[in-house]
Amino acid sequence: MHHHAVSYALLASLAAGAGIATPIEKRLSAQPFKVDLSNGVPRTLKLLRENELPDEPEYPSVGSSFGIDLGVLKSLKAQWIKDFDWKKEQDAINKFKHFTTNIEGLDIHFIHEKSADPDAIPLILLHGWPGSFLEFVPIIKPLTSRNKTSAGKPVSFHVVVPSLPGFAFSSAPPANWTNKDTARVFNTLLTNVLGYEKFATHGTDWGSDIAYSLYNSFNKTVRAGHFAFIPFYPLTPDQLAAENITLSTPLEQFEAQRFVGWSTTGNGYFIEQTTKPNTIGLALYDNPVGQLAWIGEKVIEWSDPRAGTAPSVLDHNEILRSVSLFYLTKSITSSAYIYAQNANAFKTQYTKANTDAPLLFSAFKYNVGFWPPAKVAQVGNLVEYRNHDFGGHFPGLDNPPALLEDLREIGTYWSV
Ligand SMILES: *[C@@H]1O[C@H](CO)[C@@H](O)[C@H](O)[C@H]1NC(C)=O
Ligand SMILES: *[C@@H]1O[C@H](CO)[C@@H](O)[C@H](O)[C@H]1NC(C)=O
Ligand SMILES: *[C@@H]1O[C@H](CO)[C@@H](O)[C@H](O)[C@H]1NC(C)=O
Ligand SMILES: *[C@@H]1O[C@H](CO)[C@@H](O)[C@H](O)[C@H]1NC(C)=O
Repeated sequence: MHHHAVSYALLASLAAGAGIATPIEKRLSAQPFKVDLSNGVPRTLKLLRENELPDEPEYPSVGSSFGIDLGVLKSLKAQWIKDFDWKKEQDAINKFKHFTTNIEGLDIHFIHEKSADPDAIPLILLHGWPGSFLEFVPIIKPLTSRNKTSAGKPVSFHVVVPSLPGFAFSSAPPANWTNKDTARVFNTLLTNVLGYEKFATHGTDWGSDIAYSLYNSFNKTVRAGHFAFIPFYPLTPDQLAAENITLSTPLEQFEAQRFVGWSTTGNGYFIEQTTKPNTIGLALYDNPVGQLAWIGEKVIEWSDPRAGTAPSVLDHNEILRSVSLFYLTKSITSSAYIYAQNANAFKTQYTKANTDAPLLFSAFKYNVGFWPPAKVAQVGNLVEYRNHDFGGHFPGLDNPPALLEDLREIGTYWSV
């Protein structure tokens, strides 16, 4: 991919001409990358076929309240064997421009799709667990095309979607690595490798901790932050009431209860992956059905019950695509480690970020954490808050049109 190298050299020399101190010789380079995991498919299918699940659930009356429903797991497994085509998914994934680079000793994989518009806003999209770059596939191309903010201002983006260290094609980081280190590496990716002087971030789940760290610690380069999640422990309805914060709509009341549900009956995985990631990682390492149950349960629980119907594209094929990526890249253990490495990342003290950059927030009905506007305003320069009654924890898949529109609002506040 000569074209890529040439365009960055050009960009760097333009930047140098504008008096920006980024000597070309100090710039790190990126290499084109193609996804090819086909070698692992025969073994996946063999293990899927050999796997035995019980004929009947042990306790039929509990439904999915004590974990993934047996019938759902069986139908996902059958679909994986009969109807899922990794080769076809891989071809679709390879339509994007993928690259790898090496920063601080880590191989970092990323998609980089540039807008044709030279004024486009550089934007990094950050996924969490159990997620990957695949979470943003529906919105990457639309973000690059010139469109309008709600107020009619033209807007487009140069889009960067990395795999977090330990996920998919990015190396597993050292044991003592934290999201702050990832934030620093991603700032280097955008500025040094890609040559962007200023950029915007979007983060969800663990990606929100990294995006917030970028927003807070790199206030010269990060000039807008959009979040669907923030790294501060959500408050229960009682705690909100004690702070005189009223849940003003049935939607907000519902969302606050979703967090209560997560913290009372939905956080077993969180404690396991924080305290014993090796055990769960090794148990699932060569076990596609195990990964399907462990990851599939979370994707189903954390998304809108209407998932898979418009505007959601989060159907069962998408779950299989995500689990296949975890299994075929052998990254279940390293991805689980992000919990152990960032055990205290979610703060109970809400503190304001060291920045005047605008912060935009989008809430989605079935997300598992909820922050009313009054709480989000405590952590940054909140300029835009939107709440959607469709979608959940994976809005790039579960309500891509809403996330797309909300991200375009960055254009309203962007100034360079
Ligand atoms: C702008 O975005 C909307 C919704 O995403 C889309 O329907 C429309 O075609 C886009 N317009 C242009 C000019 O690309
Ligand atoms: C983290 O671990 C690496 C070895 O993997 C070591 O080189 C480095 O000094 C450690 N950093 C800290 C802050 O302990
Ligand atoms: C909440 O409102 C009550 C009554 O106005 C007041 O006494 C209390 O100090 C307020 N609490 C907070 C945390 O603002
Ligand atoms: C940006 O961060 C620096 C510390 O790195 C701080 O001194 C400065 O006040 C921050 N700027 C804003 C606008 O908060």
